[in-house]
Amino acid sequence: MTDKPAKPMTHVRVLPHEDLCPTGVEFDARSGRTLIDELLAQGIEIEHACEKVCACATCHVHVRSGADALAPADEDEEDQLGDAWGLEADSRLSCCVKLRGTELVIELPRFTRNHARER
Ligand code: FES
Repeated sequence: MTDKPAKPMTHVRVLPHEDLCPTGVEFDARSGRTLIDELLAQGIEIEHACEKVCACATCHVHVRSGADALAPADEDEEDQLGDAWGLEADSRLSCCVKLRGTELVIELPRFTRNHARER
């Protein structure tokens, strides 16, 4: 019996966000998992109104570094991103981003689509 090779780890650095992680967070995550699941596992309560099925854009993040190593957004993600608050060129939906053994720097937008409406 042979051991399966270990999946590469992805080092994720989340920049400080006033409400969700005031001092920022750094962690290693197993590749193959979605970014949102790893953020939630770290206690970062990022919104996911559609339960992570790429239908709400509340899980929007900015990938400030490392985006080149990720699979590009597909058509569904691009469609949903159009509704994200604070859309920028590096915007992604964290429920659609599969980690791939690289280093990522993530910034959480100040608001989500839902919060922007409430304030
Ligand atoms: S959780 Fe709804 S689009 Fe990601």
